[in-house]
Amino acid sequence: ALLVIDYGSQLTQLIAKRSRKVGVYSQVVAYDSDFSTIDLNAYCAFVISGGPMSVHDADAQGIPPALLASGKPMLFICYGAQRLAHEAGGRVESSQKREFGATLIRLVKPEHPLFCGWQMESKVLMSHSDHIEVLPDAFDALAYTDQGVLAAYAHREKPYYAVQFHPESEDTVHGEALFINFLQTIARAPANWSMPYYLEEEVKVLRERIGDRQVLLGLSGGVDSLVSAAILDRAIGNQLYCVFVDHGLMRANEAQQVRAYVEAHFNLNLIQVNASEQFLSALVGVEDPEAKRKIVGKLFVETFLAVAKEQIQSHHLTFLAQGTIYSDVIESAHGGKSQLIKSHHNVGGLPEELHLELVEPLRYLFKDEVRALGLAMGIDRALVMRHPFPGPGLTIRILGEVKAEYIPILQHADTIMLDELHSAGLYDAVSQAFCVFLPVKSVGVKGDNRSYDYTIGVRMIQSDDFMTGRFAQLPWSVLERIGARIVNEVAHVSRVVYDITNKPPATIEWE
Ligand code: XMP
Repeated sequence: ALLVIDYGSQLTQLIAKRSRKVGVYSQVVAYDSDFSTIDLNAYCAFVISGGPMSVHDADAQGIPPALLASGKPMLFICYGAQRLAHEAGGRVESSQKREFGATLIRLVKPEHPLFCGWQMESKVLMSHSDHIEVLPDAFDALAYTDQGVLAAYAHREKPYYAVQFHPESEDTVHGEALFINFLQTIARAPANWSMPYYLEEEVKVLRERIGDRQVLLGLSGGVDSLVSAAILDRAIGNQLYCVFVDHGLMRANEAQQVRAYVEAHFNLNLIQVNASEQFLSALVGVEDPEAKRKIVGKLFVETFLAVAKEQIQSHHLTFLAQGTIYSDVIESAHGGKSQLIKSHHNVGGLPEELHLELVEPLRYLFKDEVRALGLAMGIDRALVMRHPFPGPGLTIRILGEVKAEYIPILQHADTIMLDELHSAGLYDAVSQAFCVFLPVKSVGVKGDNRSYDYTIGVRMIQSDDFMTGRFAQLPWSVLERIGARIVNEVAHVSRVVYDITNKPPATIEWE
């Protein structure tokens, strides 16, 4: 496996993902971890990531000496590369100007194994303000930018390799080749990480840990909880109790679909709770988005807890399974996101309240690996590749007060939009697509009659991580069909608008 040491770069997760993509399992730890408690021999190589620091900052962080002394191959990226040069006696200079974006670099030692498969000149992603002015002794330069800035270097004897650019970024054209060279050729890491392998191992681990005891899982209809259910089902079958709280604010038929799928394919016990009336009454008269989110989140937890407690009593449940994925693990270990933009509805804190032990079968997987695992287990592609859907569901897609009569209008419009997106073969090409209900009336003509009805907003987003995103530039013809069908087929809608704002400054959801 590869161990990635995170110095706070936005791109650190991409390093871990790149490594896994070329078949080498990877883990991420923070730079201030206690390395004496980590078994360094379990790793075949280390990466020192980039980060916002400058080596000249008073509190700039060094490279853990234990790693440097391990004798294992190390790749230093951006800040890592500057830090290595600085510690080895070179000179790093700060500049006011930040170099950001695609940059051409030229190899000066094209025969070096790190650059096997590269062209003499290639595009890479640069993102830095400091640069290495003088290389320390015992190091060779491997590449420069067209501006003459050192772009890559390596130690003559020790297995230290450093790049000023970001090979983990898609914008570095031969990034994958660099990872293959570093991991497979230089570090000789076995390329044995694959989903069938993970599946087999994880099923063994789960069986061993759980034995003949019973597990509780909250099923939400989302990919993570479904894949968690599937792998637990495979490991322990009917020792699994899944509670599905239907708040009535899912997409049309979504609750039924999930239920039908689970019943047809799994041995687990499914406990479905229809709580739509409670949710609707709790939302009466509430307009404020944050208040709506809080109400739904709180009621969801209460409903789940009540059912969970019954199940725990009657079936002597020992474990609570959660669909936590690796990005959540890394984020919370590093202090989490900086600022609360919207209170996301999640169910942290449940294990303590229920006195259950936590099982997290997806804890080591990134989102696209969760999907790959789902596919490896034969779950329907349509379920596995589904766009994300927020916990509070349509609550936050009906602007202002959620009235019962708005829900079927929005569900119908949303179904048409998805249907057209699928027909155009574009569903997988966008990251998220949905309709929002605007309780704003405008005038139209339907047939020979004047209409004065509500508005549907269509939102389609292209994004890698949903932290930022751009509105999808869909062909006009597809948008036209969506608009025409919604106005013609959905009662009480006289206008459809397309959301052309990016995130930031807008968020993806409207509330
Ligand atoms: P925003 O609107 O914050 O959304 O740009 C970013 C992503 O998160 C989803 N989202 C949520 N997911 N619970 C969730 O599980 C929530 O409360 C929630 N709010 C937003 C949103 O759909 C998008 O994918």
